[in-house]
Amino acid sequence: MIITLTGFMGVGKSTIANLLAKHLYCKLVDLDKYIENEQGMPVSEIFRNMGESHFRHLEELSLKKIINENAEKVLVISLGGGTLISGVNQSIIKQQTKCIYLKASIQLLAERLAEHRGKRPVVDNIDNLNIQEEIAPLFEKRKTGYENAASLIIDTDGKSIKTILIEIINKI
Ligand code: S3P
Repeated sequence: MIITLTGFMGVGKSTIANLLAKHLYCKLVDLDKYIENEQGMPVSEIFRNMGESHFRHLEELSLKKIINENAEKVLVISLGGGTLISGVNQSIIKQQTKCIYLKASIQLLAERLAEHRGKRPVVDNIDNLNIQEEIAPLFEKRKTGYENAASLIIDTDGKSIKTILIEIINKI
């Protein structure tokens, strides 16, 4: 069984994926880190040097590879916030994984993103004051992709990491 974690930047996919993999005693793959290791540079540099479309291409190739290589195993994958922009990725994730969508309000996402600057090329050039209004249309555009691919949606607003984790464990 492959479990994937999706949701917008800042929702806590990596944190939850890490704890879930520990709980299940299984392997964890963070898609961004996998790409960074393969390319030998951080995501921000891939964006800067080769552009977003090249990153999206790498994202698609890496996802296919990880899923094919682990089809018979138990694995947790933390996806990037933009992985499900791709229709190809959406159907792979929907058909071959149990996808959990970590949902959060735009206010909470904006607060989190404003706190953690410097590693997210999609939002790093946005001023903290405008972050909520700038990410709102992006979130709207991506929301359907998250919802379509997911078989489990977890509302994370106002919940501790522990509560979110327990909710996931009880529902998978
Ligand atoms: C992106 C999200 C990032 C990373 C890249 C692009 C996006 O992952 O894949 O910077 O387009 O939303 P996180 O959601 O883990 O920040």
